[in-house]
Amino acid sequence: MSLLVALTAWDVPTWVERFRRLMPDREVHALGDAYDPATIRYVASWKHPPGSLKDLPNVRALFSLGAGVDHLFGDPELPDVPIVRIVDEDLTTRMSEYVVLHCLRILRQQPRYDAQKAERLWEDDRDQPAARDVRVGIMGLGELGSDAAAKLKLMGFDVAGWSRSPKSLPGIATFSGEAGLDAFLARTDILVLLLPLTAETRGIVALPLLRKLKRDGRLGGPFLINAGRGGLQKEADILAALNEGVLKGAVLDVFETEPLPPSSPLWDHPAVTITPHNAAMSAPDSIGRQVAEQIAAFERGEPLRNLVEPARGY
Ligand code: NDP
Ligand code: OXD
Repeated sequence: MSLLVALTAWDVPTWVERFRRLMPDREVHALGDAYDPATIRYVASWKHPPGSLKDLPNVRALFSLGAGVDHLFGDPELPDVPIVRIVDEDLTTRMSEYVVLHCLRILRQQPRYDAQKAERLWEDDRDQPAARDVRVGIMGLGELGSDAAAKLKLMGFDVAGWSRSPKSLPGIATFSGEAGLDAFLARTDILVLLLPLTAETRGIVALPLLRKLKRDGRLGGPFLINAGRGGLQKEADILAALNEGVLKGAVLDVFETEPLPPSSPLWDHPAVTITPHNAAMSAPDSIGRQVAEQIAAFERGEPLRNLVEPARGY
């Protein structure tokens, strides 16, 4: 009844050690260790190399160590077993911190004051909008989007969200599906992306969509915050939108290629803020505990929680 920890991009020994501590009665292996594939019952994956899980005859469930599961569907030889994703208060809180931080930075014009500091320039602005004058639109109203929406609302922003199916959230204007998209965009000053990457959402943030954002809002032009996935955006279009004045600024945590190549023009653009895909990291303690608890419950005969629907891709 072993667990296989199949990671790239994160620190393997840290995760293996954490799982061993949380599940002292179970063997925990990392990819590349010597183990009998027939003993592996569960896999904990973050961007495992495609094909590396194909010969596990007794695997029962696959755990994504992040909220997103697009990294799994890139593997054509993924075992055909239930996929569990992370829904975790710690991760959700971190994401909402990121979204609120950057909405407030935009509202309070912090990038402008950072630039002024570099010039030793003391220039005040007496025409600052209030949060209630700024309309934030969140694409993706799931676990992360709905928490960020509630916290932005608490800060006073005028918040709306867009999802695949209709939603009702207190104090939040909601839109859904193709039919609701244009009206949602037309009222948005700060567009926040918290969508999963699926066949339907890939490349959704392109110039035609950005052109539909509200241009005459109190911020003097729309802003984009992408903390969802890089594959949602077309970076050449974001740069064009910034250079044409369609967008006033962008905060990007995720990119079409990660790490963002040093040659990307996004690095040098003065209106772009870059973070290295860490808007909401998976903390080994809380995520490890959640996986261990789910495995124990599953073996007691309880159903797995937070299951992914492979047909819709999230
Ligand atoms: P959820 O599955 O809980 O929510 C996804 C939301 O997106 C739902 O509201 C869903 O609609 C909506 N959605 C999906 N497809 C479409 C579509 N075609 N059109 C309109 N809406 C759509 O996911 P989470 O909130 O937990 O996570 C969202 C994403 O955030 C993850 O998939 C991951 O990519 C990213 N992420 C990024 C991190 C980072 O550090 N940068 C950290 C963690 C996650 P409906 O409600 O109708 O199903
Ligand atoms: C996630 C991520 O999906 O960290 O959890 O990107």
